[in-house]
Amino acid sequence: MAVLTGRLFRLRSMATTCIVRPFRVFGITNIIIALIVVIGLLVFLPSKSTDTVYRFVKSYGSGNNELEEEFIPTGPPKTILFWNDDWGYMKDGVDGLFKELNCPVSNCIMTLNQSKLNEADAVLLHICPLANKKNPVWPTRTNPDQIWIFYTHESPCFRGFAGKWEQLYPEWDSKGFNWTMTYRADSDIPMFYGDVWKRETPTNKNYTEVALREKKLAVWISSHCETFGQREYYIKELRKHMPLDILGECGDPNGCPMENRGYIDDTCMDLVGENYKFFLAFENSFSFDYVTEKFFKTLRGDFVVVVRGAADYTRLGATPEMYINTANFSHPRDLAAYLMKIDKDPALYAKMLEWKNYYDGTSYTPRTRQSWCDLCKKVNQNPMPRKTWTNFKAWFNESECRKPPDLDFVTEELKNEPMKPWPRPAA
Ligand SMILES: *[C@@H]1O[C@H](CO)[C@@H](O)[C@H](O)[C@H]1NC(C)=O
Ligand SMILES: *[C@@H]1O[C@H](CO)[C@@H](O)[C@H](O)[C@H]1NC(C)=O
Ligand SMILES: *[C@@H]1O[C@H](CO)[C@@H](O)[C@H](O)[C@H]1NC(C)=O
Ligand SMILES: *[C@@H]1O[C@H](CO)[C@@H](O)[C@H](O)[C@H]1NC(C)=O
Ligand SMILES: *[C@@H]1O[C@H](CO)[C@@H](O)[C@H](O)[C@H]1NC(C)=O
Repeated sequence: MAVLTGRLFRLRSMATTCIVRPFRVFGITNIIIALIVVIGLLVFLPSKSTDTVYRFVKSYGSGNNELEEEFIPTGPPKTILFWNDDWGYMKDGVDGLFKELNCPVSNCIMTLNQSKLNEADAVLLHICPLANKKNPVWPTRTNPDQIWIFYTHESPCFRGFAGKWEQLYPEWDSKGFNWTMTYRADSDIPMFYGDVWKRETPTNKNYTEVALREKKLAVWISSHCETFGQREYYIKELRKHMPLDILGECGDPNGCPMENRGYIDDTCMDLVGENYKFFLAFENSFSFDYVTEKFFKTLRGDFVVVVRGAADYTRLGATPEMYINTANFSHPRDLAAYLMKIDKDPALYAKMLEWKNYYDGTSYTPRTRQSWCDLCKKVNQNPMPRKTWTNFKAWFNESECRKPPDLDFVTEELKNEPMKPWPRPAA
């Protein structure tokens, strides 16, 4: 049997013949026979693999066929060292992470203990804090079989990269990273900020009622008022043409509660859904595939989301009916006219929300869970395909922090116009 050789093998036939059948037979004798078969198998199987018989879920969104293979990991658990969790993504004692996440392959141990560098099978390097620090401490590579992973949630617009690109490219290239783990779909391990999926059972919310309930047109909520994507200029112009409430730091700070790190919390989302027809989910930068939680988090809300960013949202699982894109309008004035037209037509507005009865979506889980599971699965590949990243300039580069393409209308006067006070005094 393939498994006895400790090599990769396809699980499907194995699972049906040896594993599933014992649970399908009835009668004491049959069960005893089945038990004997199973015990016999357990004796012959390498001990480590007995609890690692998994049927893998299909990896969606990754486009990475290697991850879709079905196999049983053999050998001792893999150690993944998160070298610098400076931003506190992991709590202490994360050894059980992959089991806790219920990953199909969970024989990985995640550690934050740098002293385990030599025994680590993979090292996760959080790039942003490393680039941000004056004297970053990098590990030293002693073992070519150790997998080094370039890990970031931030786009190339990240402040810590600014002004340093010519130093960063050769630095990253010289580290000899094996994999990338980022929000980009073409990463070795893509790590999107959220996910959209089809509902198993459609809901049947009456969106005409929603349309009639919501009395306010649109809202923008943010804690970052000056951004690379200069969404603030777009917003300033937009509110000249339509009613637009601004909540959070850039407008009314008490209008909506924010979780730490400036994320909009659920109570706030409910409040928005109760009152507003449109929610502006404008990204802070224009970068390939860069769509953050502010898009995914709003998918469940009773409103239409308006996006602005450089991503092809369909590449990340959204269909065009799920959002309005500022890219479709040549001037904020045209977007305003479009939104106000929909506002006056409850039937049309209700129709634009209909898809929510068939699809669901959310930020982080389950997609983030899947990324961590993919990591554990990928670290378990045997044999391990070899790969090294030697040209970051061609992939994660300065020019991927793109200049906003839609701000022709901006004047110095508009730039200097204050966002606050909010609400603006009546004219
Ligand atoms: C870190 O790892 C080293 C080497 O395995 C071990 O001796 C040490 O006790 C660990 N430290 C903590 C805080 O777990
Ligand atoms: C990882 O990259 C190093 C170069 O830094 C290379 O020598 C090694 O073969 C790579 N290993 C794998 C498993 O890809
Ligand atoms: C949805 O609500 C509207 C407004 O209350 C009502 O006129 C319509 O009949 C409802 N539709 C369904 C299918 O219940
Ligand atoms: C936006 O443009 C895309 C193609 O460029 C088109 O498919 C889509 O229907 C447009 N959406 C709206 C709301 O006009
Ligand atoms: C930057 O990366 C993009 C892909 O994201 C690539 O198309 C472009 O050519 C790269 N720029 C440079 C200067 O290599």
